[in-house]
Amino acid sequence: MRLLERVAVVTGAGRGLGAAMAERLAAEGACTVVVDIDGEAARRMAKALVERGHDSLAVACDVADRTQVAALVRRVTDRFGRLDILVNNAGITRDATFLKMTDEQWASVLDTNLTSMFVCTQEVARHMVERQKGRIVCVSSISGNEGNVGQANYSASKAGVIGLVKSLSKELARQGVLINAVAPGFIDSEMTAQVPEKIRDKLLARIPQGRSGRPEEIAAVVAFLASDEASYVNGQTLNVNGGMYV
Ligand code: CAA
Repeated sequence: MRLLERVAVVTGAGRGLGAAMAERLAAEGACTVVVDIDGEAARRMAKALVERGHDSLAVACDVADRTQVAALVRRVTDRFGRLDILVNNAGITRDATFLKMTDEQWASVLDTNLTSMFVCTQEVARHMVERQKGRIVCVSSISGNEGNVGQANYSASKAGVIGLVKSLSKELARQGVLINAVAPGFIDSEMTAQVPEKIRDKLLARIPQGRSGRPEEIAAVVAFLASDEASYVNGQTLNVNGGMYV
């Protein structure tokens, strides 16, 4: 129960890794706000948490839309009085080899994966800086560190996340706000289920642990970074990938 009485917002928490993160933060005692562009998925997840005895709120929100994000932060602070933890998790893939990649595939991935983190972090950090306290965890990817065939847009967005985190760690620490990233490798989710089998086998062959990761294994690291146990960790990217190499 490392997060007792903390208020945590997890974006993209209606399903997949975000849902596992919301579960874990709630299990550690946090009041957890489940944010998703799919309001129905957010409501289902928050309901499941409440049924297990946790305090939770669902909010439908496009995390790249400034007006919606500002309304989200107001709603959370009105309801809980504060916001202690932000997990910037929402992300999409629109894979295509580079010469085939469309403007729409590029822009939608950069908007959802990177601009959203600028917008959400700025709106939330204003509140955290006022309180001189806060934790932010951003989800990057092994593709951001290493690049990946068919993922120029996604890799650029996830590398951008690492640059954003490093810069903000230098700006916000003196105001009591710590920010870090977690970079998952190949994790079981709807996102990785779309990878063609032949490519999937090649990716799995590069994981010394011999298996894909589980969402809960990423959630555990997010909970650590959000907790007081990580009180001297700032501006880092924790790779959680079973030793995967390229
Ligand atoms: N290495 C080198 N070249 C490769 C390659 C690889 N791994 N994969 C594809 N290519 C090249 C080859 O020249 C290939 O031709 P052959 O099939 O004849 O070998 C050519 O690309 C095919 O290009 P096309 O544009 O014709 O392919 P396509 O349009 O049918 O599909 C694709 C392209 C959509 C990118 C498809 O290959 C794909 O889905 N790849 C998986 C991408 C991937 O790894 N996504 C990770 C998702 S998980 C995630 O994103 C989470 C995370 O954080 C890691």
